Amino acid sequence: TMSSEPVNVNEFKALAERALPKMYFEFYAGGAEDEHTLKANEEAYQRITIRPRVLVDVSRIDMSTRMLGYSISSPIMVAPSGLHKLANPEGELATARAAAASNTIMILSFGSSYSVEEVAASCNAVRFFQLYVYKQRHVAANLVERAERSGYKAIVLTVDCPRMGRREADIKNRFSSYCISSVLSGWGYSIDGGSNLEAYVNSTLDPSLSWKDVAWLKSITKLPILLKGIITHEDARIAVEVGAAGVIVSNHGGRQLDYSPATINVVEEVVHAVKGKIPVIVDGGVRRGTDVFKALALGAQAVLVGRPILYGLAAKGEHGVKQVIQMLKEELELAMALAGCTSLKDITRSHVRTERDRCQ
Ligand code: FNR
Repeated sequence: TMSSEPVNVNEFKALAERALPKMYFEFYAGGAEDEHTLKANEEAYQRITIRPRVLVDVSRIDMSTRMLGYSISSPIMVAPSGLHKLANPEGELATARAAAASNTIMILSFGSSYSVEEVAASCNAVRFFQLYVYKQRHVAANLVERAERSGYKAIVLTVDCPRMGRREADIKNRFSSYCISSVLSGWGYSIDGGSNLEAYVNSTLDPSLSWKDVAWLKSITKLPILLKGIITHEDARIAVEVGAAGVIVSNHGGRQLDYSPATINVVEEVVHAVKGKIPVIVDGGVRRGTDVFKALALGAQAVLVGRPILYGLAAKGEHGVKQVIQMLKEELELAMALAGCTSLKDITRSHVRTERDRCQ
């Protein structure tokens, strides 16, 4: 008889679909407009091949690394995503405990269904806090102060969201703020029942946010600031200039600007622009240990995983999140062994072949 136990991260998606109301599942799974970028993120990894080196002693593999000085067991971190309570009543508390048990860093979303303090109290692992900036700047300032006070180690400013992308599944499902207001205790504001999420978010997010506001953010916190949503060399250079502690190459999992490029295809561009001055992290479409291997070969220091974490949480709660992270780690370890790399620094550009390489 066939086991229903998932054997890879992709299989958690079907389990999550079975476990969740359609509206919630589609909120997690969906992307903007044609969902071109959503699909491209995963497909682009499939067009990169690995060039293994053989006859290397791989009896010991070390996947550990450091991020902003903090040790983590592997270069796989938890992306910020909102509303974990839709997946499981324990929500972000369960996700945070699973990340802590896996010895990795979770980035708590601004749209968390539990407050920064509640998540901090649920585990004592290293956590970062992701920020959106509202027109009322004091909301952001207050949250940053609270995050700093409750021990978060970095602020992740998401810069690809001056307005919310058009997610048509949510529009069709009438995924409204009314549905979610009960799970949004973490937000600075209560939501006005009835209005849709897009209208609500657009009425509160500050579309005037610009580079000079990074200086403002630096002036209100001692924490290092990572910029999430940088996908060009132009912006990567400015990020270094304004003193970002790191950049996250991200298109928001294809939920914002459709037809923005697959992130793995622009990692090298960003890596070259920052010239090793700050870490480059990438997210979007990471579903296999081999994907992590490819991202590192192209110069990223780490990856973030978004939807698979939510699917693990929906399917099996805290244990599901742990399993998702564990599966990716085991796959990365195997990929390293089969490619002849015993530590992350052994993974080099020559270990992968991209479409561009083939054209040259
Ligand atoms: C997100 N993402 C996100 N990003 C962010 O900066 N703040 C947020 O609140 C959210 N919320 C959110 C909700 C849901 C349901 C999803 C799926 C994603 C984007 C997230 O951090 C990350 O960039 C992508 O999810 C990465 O792509 P994958 O791994 O989902 O393909």
